[in-house]
Amino acid sequence: MSAKKITVVGAGHVGATCSQLLAMKELAQEVVLVDIAEGIPQGKGLDQWESAPIEGFDSRVIGSNGYDAAEGSTIFIVTAGIARKPGMSRDDLLKTNANVIRSVSKEIKRVAPDAIVIMVTNPLDVMAQVALESTGFPRERVIGMAGVLDTARYRSFIALELDVSVEDIQALVLGGHGDTMVPLASYTSVSGIPLSQLLSQDRIGALVERTRKGGGEIVAHLKTGSAYYAPAAAAVQMAEAIVKNKRRILPCAAWLQGEYGMNDLYLGVPCLLGENGLERILEVDLSDDERAALETSAEHVRSTVEALNALS
Ligand code: NAI
Ligand code: 2OP
Repeated sequence: MSAKKITVVGAGHVGATCSQLLAMKELAQEVVLVDIAEGIPQGKGLDQWESAPIEGFDSRVIGSNGYDAAEGSTIFIVTAGIARKPGMSRDDLLKTNANVIRSVSKEIKRVAPDAIVIMVTNPLDVMAQVALESTGFPRERVIGMAGVLDTARYRSFIALELDVSVEDIQALVLGGHGDTMVPLASYTSVSGIPLSQLLSQDRIGALVERTRKGGGEIVAHLKTGSAYYAPAAAAVQMAEAIVKNKRRILPCAAWLQGEYGMNDLYLGVPCLLGENGLERILEVDLSDDERAALETSAEHVRSTVEALNALS
């Protein structure tokens, strides 16, 4: 099963890694890479297509500075934006990226009014809201990528700690994408064995803390940019669930309408992804502490939305 066309907007680190993975997995007959930087999407797209005879895939990768090539895409993975530069405040970044997402959303709506948008650009939860509002798409078709990445980081750290396969680790990280995210130790198991039977509370606490700061750990190593291999793999896993109608349950940022007692904000929650995008939000029982942590995370997202509104 594959889509006719999937478009990745932003041909930087995350976007280009997404297009290579989409092509290698043959999730679309055509993978379109769009960026405003002249030559970059064309060059990277051609380079990726030239790897097709070696890797043995037939997905065509096409780079473009415009959106006509993206017409009729089933899915858009949006990674366009800028990173914070020296002298730039968080507010500057927020405003700049919101304007990028508004302009990208306008183009998506024009060339593919039925598309499903997977938002990646940061600040993630807020940019997903900007895309929801500026495309006018229903919440089923604007979904944010963060929880799959954060959960993958948590699972990879647990696998290292226990020296077992990552495949046997099931976990769930909810909340906003940032230091306030909520890794749920109570929903973490290793081949069905609760994590609490295998690790002390102190060790679990340390892994939870490392997960919360997982993005920063990579930035500290790279110095000039942020993570992209795991983020791209996460966005592509969401696209695969949709394209193949796998009905996977993955933690994604979804527009809440009463779920978890919250309204009108994007927050990471367990989502069922299928051919229509977000098909269902699952509500799981939370302890008082977990619920309080989710509220704190939601408060952080709301305050960022307010900061953006004050700037606009
Ligand atoms: P990057 O700087 O390598 O790439 C961004 C690309 O966007 C650049 O090629 C730039 O030319 C392009 N761009 C800027 N304005 C554009 C526009 N109006 N239309 C089309 N393209 C435009 O950045 P990277 O590392 O790829 O990260 C991309 C975004 O993803 C950042 O906001 C980053 O913070 C975010 N991110 C989010 C994650 C998540 O978990 N949600 C994980 C990793 C990154
Ligand atoms: C990350 O978590 C930067 O949001 C990005 O790596």
